[in-house]
Amino acid sequence: MNDHLQQPANAETPEFIQVLSANAIHQKVVHLARRISADYQNERPLLIGVLKGAVIFFSDLIRQLTIPVSIDFIQLSSYGNSEASCGDVAFCSQVTSDLKDRPLLIVEDIIDTGLTMDKLVKHLWTFEPESIRVCTLIDKYERREIEFKADYVCHEVKTGFLVGYGLDYAEQYRQLPAIYELKF
Ligand code: IMP
Ligand code: MG
Repeated sequence: MNDHLQQPANAETPEFIQVLSANAIHQKVVHLARRISADYQNERPLLIGVLKGAVIFFSDLIRQLTIPVSIDFIQLSSYGNSEASCGDVAFCSQVTSDLKDRPLLIVEDIIDTGLTMDKLVKHLWTFEPESIRVCTLIDKYERREIEFKADYVCHEVKTGFLVGYGLDYAEQYRQLPAIYELKF
């Protein structure tokens, strides 16, 4: 971690435990992109990246796809500096594309309680798309409060607060090329 991030000398930093190296992430993204390309062979899906956490995963994933796609983004409210979702999700920005009769693939950073994705999927159905599938970088399944299953999962973890490769803690650490669990 220290190779990629210089902290102020006196900063109190938590412990970083590597969960996935940059190389391991790359292998998994390539594998997932192959599955997605095969599943959408005769379609032209609209990929919707969920800002900000999914931005790095999204840009790596689309560059591995071998099918024609369009892209758009939606921004949901984060839960500030807290570590837990309260389920009170607000939309900060909306997609600008026409969603009617389109196959949609939502690309998210991490599913934890499931409340955010559940709300987003229900919201997007109101625009009458042809289909909605969900692709997530991390499926963190232990704290699920609502039954929610993503169609494509890059990596599963049971628990832990993760940062890096787009994932943040209080807007920090998104730029790290690997994924780490933070120990406070
Ligand atoms: P959910 O509604 O509990 O599923 O929360 C999902 C959102 O919480 C994700 O899109 C992330 O923005 C954030 N989140 C949940 N767990 C983590 C984590 O371990 N690291 C960083 N962000 C997280
Ligand atoms: Mg998110």
